Amino acid sequence: MPVLQATLSHFANPAARPGDSYPPSLGDITNLDKAAQARADISRWPDYQPSPLHRLQQLAAQIDVAEIFYKDESERFGLKSFKALGGAYAVARQLQDKIQQQTGAAVTIDDLTSGRYRSIVQDIVISCATDGNHGRSVAWGCQMFGCDCIIYVHRDVSAGRMQAMQALGAEVIRIDGNYDASVKLADSEAVAHGRIIVSDTSYPGYTAIPKDVALGYTVMLAEAVEQMGASIPTHVFIQAGVGGLAAAVCAYFWELWGTKRPRFIVVEPEQANCLQQSAARGEPVTVSGDLETLMAGLSCGEVSLLAWEILKPGADDFLTISEDAVPACMKLLLQSQPPIEAGESAVAGLGAAIAAREDAEMSRKLGLDSCSRIFVIGTEGATDPELYQRLISQ
Ligand SMILES: Cc1ncc(COP(=O)(O)O)c(C=O)c1O
Repeated sequence: MPVLQATLSHFANPAARPGDSYPPSLGDITNLDKAAQARADISRWPDYQPSPLHRLQQLAAQIDVAEIFYKDESERFGLKSFKALGGAYAVARQLQDKIQQQTGAAVTIDDLTSGRYRSIVQDIVISCATDGNHGRSVAWGCQMFGCDCIIYVHRDVSAGRMQAMQALGAEVIRIDGNYDASVKLADSEAVAHGRIIVSDTSYPGYTAIPKDVALGYTVMLAEAVEQMGASIPTHVFIQAGVGGLAAAVCAYFWELWGTKRPRFIVVEPEQANCLQQSAARGEPVTVSGDLETLMAGLSCGEVSLLAWEILKPGADDFLTISEDAVPACMKLLLQSQPPIEAGESAVAGLGAAIAAREDAEMSRKLGLDSCSRIFVIGTEGATDPELYQRLISQ
């Protein structure tokens, strides 16, 4: 009996440069120095704590690999996803910039959390489009630092996710179209009303803020590297929506470990595989349609421009994973020791790693064997508690 049933489709990236060190040109997008600054700032936020890194030893033995490292973001800042780090960090950076422009003073994180510049901050309005987790992070950041927040959600975002953002003080506006349509509307309304867009995806003419979002994500990578001690993984399986997370992980490990870096595998839902299709075409491709998937956080049809610049040379392989694997992998984690809460978008990377290892041909294609050390990120917990309960009870 296999541990997990799943169908995978594989594309080996012909543009990957596994033998190269981190290209200096990518250092403009993200680099270890800026990541260290993000960590110094975020670790000063109230209630900061590193998230746990689990070694899934029993599962590793079952699928015959040496290690499975699972970075567990299910509790991050009480927001229950790694996204807590990104949006809120970019909000802080925007506020610091705006205050500095008005006062000429250099503004620290402590200035923001103490409300020192409240009179300036309270007139600033931040906005974004979201499928849930990013908006929650932005709303939380706005609440923590004292500015207003307006969030746009697409037709498939659940009521539970909307309410979570409203509970953080955000005004939430639902549109009829898909995620990409909500991004465009948030953008045009921001221009009309003088709001600052803090988006987790970058596009032509809009790249500075998503860089800060991705720098926020690197805090969990710095923690993970310390938690793994001397161990360098051989394989990293990361789930992707617009690719911002995958690019942040890829760049961080690439710059840190150079040519010893792990093989980097991007995992997407079958109906929302914009990165896999872009890799096959050699340039960004938009996936149209309703992008339907249980993995709401990965339901994206357009790659982030900056993410693509990193993943084009940095990702070795692109996989899609079938929907049936999602509830099964959530239950597998809940039954592990200790039990791990993992939401729908959290399990694609781990699910793909297990299914790949249990398929001899896929193991060969990805170079997986009994010596492999796999790193994955459980990117969310039960961010939609009702859906979570339904899926684990199936
Ligand atoms: C839980 C979770 N995992 C993974 C991702 C993918 O991140 P990205 O869109 O940067 O690829 C998201 C995006 O919202 C998410 O919410």
